[in-house]
Amino acid sequence: MQVKQAKKVSGVVRVPGDKSISHRAVMFGAIAEGTTRISGFLAGADCLSTIRCFQQMGVKITRQGDEVTVEGKGWYGLNEPAEVLDVGNSGTTIRLLSGILATQPFHSVLQGDESIARRPMRRVMTPLRQMGARIDGRKEGEYTPLSIRGGDLHGIAYASPVASAQVKSAILLAGLQAAGDTSVTEPMRSRDHTERMLRAFGIDVRQEGLTVTVQGGQQLTAREIEVPGDISSAAFLLAAAFMLPGSELVIQNVGVNPTRTGILDVIRAMGGEVRLENERIWNEEPVADLHVAYRPLNGAVIEGELIPRLIDEIPVIAVLATQATGRTIIRDAQELRVKETDRIATIAEELGKLGAQITPTEDGLIIEGPVQLQGALTDSRGDHRIGMAMAVAALAATGETTIADAEAINVSFPGFAELLSSITEHA
Ligand code: S3P
Repeated sequence: MQVKQAKKVSGVVRVPGDKSISHRAVMFGAIAEGTTRISGFLAGADCLSTIRCFQQMGVKITRQGDEVTVEGKGWYGLNEPAEVLDVGNSGTTIRLLSGILATQPFHSVLQGDESIARRPMRRVMTPLRQMGARIDGRKEGEYTPLSIRGGDLHGIAYASPVASAQVKSAILLAGLQAAGDTSVTEPMRSRDHTERMLRAFGIDVRQEGLTVTVQGGQQLTAREIEVPGDISSAAFLLAAAFMLPGSELVIQNVGVNPTRTGILDVIRAMGGEVRLENERIWNEEPVADLHVAYRPLNGAVIEGELIPRLIDEIPVIAVLATQATGRTIIRDAQELRVKETDRIATIAEELGKLGAQITPTEDGLIIEGPVQLQGALTDSRGDHRIGMAMAVAALAATGETTIADAEAINVSFPGFAELLSSITEHA
C-alpha cells in the first residue's frame, strides 16, 4: 500500500462492523436455539475464521456481504470436527471457542497462523482445566496446537491475573454448561460485549463490581443482532482528523460501549473534542455518530484503568502523539507485547523509520512531539493495526510511504485503503 502526504481528511463515513461483537454474534448464534440473523457483520478475515470453525462442526451459516444467518444447534448440536479447527490470525476465535469446546464431550484441535502460535493460551487453559476440561498444547498448554476434550464441568470462582475479555468470556461460556455458579473477577474491567450479548440471548448474567457470575444450565435463545461500527477501526480516522489541520469527519453508527471508549477520553485529555450525536442502543450496545474537527493536541499520560479501554488503539495513539505538542507517556500496557505482534516493539520500530521520536519501555512508550515525519518504506509485520497505524502516520509524512504486507489489514478493516483515500485531500 502506498500513501502520500495529505492536506486534510473530510467526509461522512461508516466503518465496518465491530470485530468483538461480530465474533460473539456467530458463536452465540451457533450454540443458541433457533436462527440468529446478523446485520453489519464484519466480513474481515478474523470473523470469517470464526464462521468456518463452526461450519466445520456442522453449523449451517450463510453470508451475503455483511448479512449472516446462523442456524443455531443448541449447546449439544455441535459435531466433533474431523479436521483441525483453523483460527487463522484470530486470538478472539481461539480463546472464546476454547470456552465453548470445554463444554463439549468430544475431541477438537485448534491451530492458527505463526502469530497465534506465539500468543499465550495458558491464561484460558488454566481456568478451563480447573473446571474439569482436558486440555493440552505445546509447553504445557501455553501454545498451539491445542487439543481439547470437554464436558462434565463444574463452576469455579476465578480471579484472573489479567484484565482480558477473552479470558473472561471463555470462562463464562464454559460456566453456562458447568454445575453451579461460575464467576470471574478481573483486576480491571475489560470490554463487556460478552455479558451484554449473553443478556440479549436471554442469559442471566450478574455483575458486582469487577466480578461477573453466571449459573450453569442456561440455554441461549436466537435473536437478531445489528452490529455497530468498530470504534477500534474508527480510531484510525479520528487520529487522522486530529493530525491534519482543517479536517472534519462524521463517522456514523459507531459502537460507544464505555469499556471501549478510552480513545475518546484520551483525545479529550489531549485537548480535542469528539461530539457524540444521535446516541441510541442496539441490542444492549450503545451506538452514536462521532463528529470531530481538527484541533491541535497536547501530549498526555495514558495509564491504569484506561489501558484496557483502549488497548487496541495504542498503535494509532502513538502515531497521533507524534503530532501533538509535548511528551506522551503510555504505561501499564504490557499486554501489548502479546498481541498479533509485540506492538510496543513494532510500533516503535516502524514509526522510527519515519523519523518519530519514540522510545519503547517495558510496559509502554514515550513519544515526543511534534515531529515532521518523513515518508519511508515500512512494514505491517503481518499485524493489521500496525499496517493501519502506519498508513495514518504516512498522511502526515513528507513524500510517499510504502506499507509492505498491507493485506494484513483485511483481518479487521476490509476496504481500509479505499475508505482512507476517499476522505483524503492532497496538497
Ligand atoms: C477482544 C479482547 C481484547 C482485544 C482483542 C479483542 C475480544 O483482547 O485486544 O482485539 O473480542 O474479546 P484481550 O481480552 O486479550 O485483552
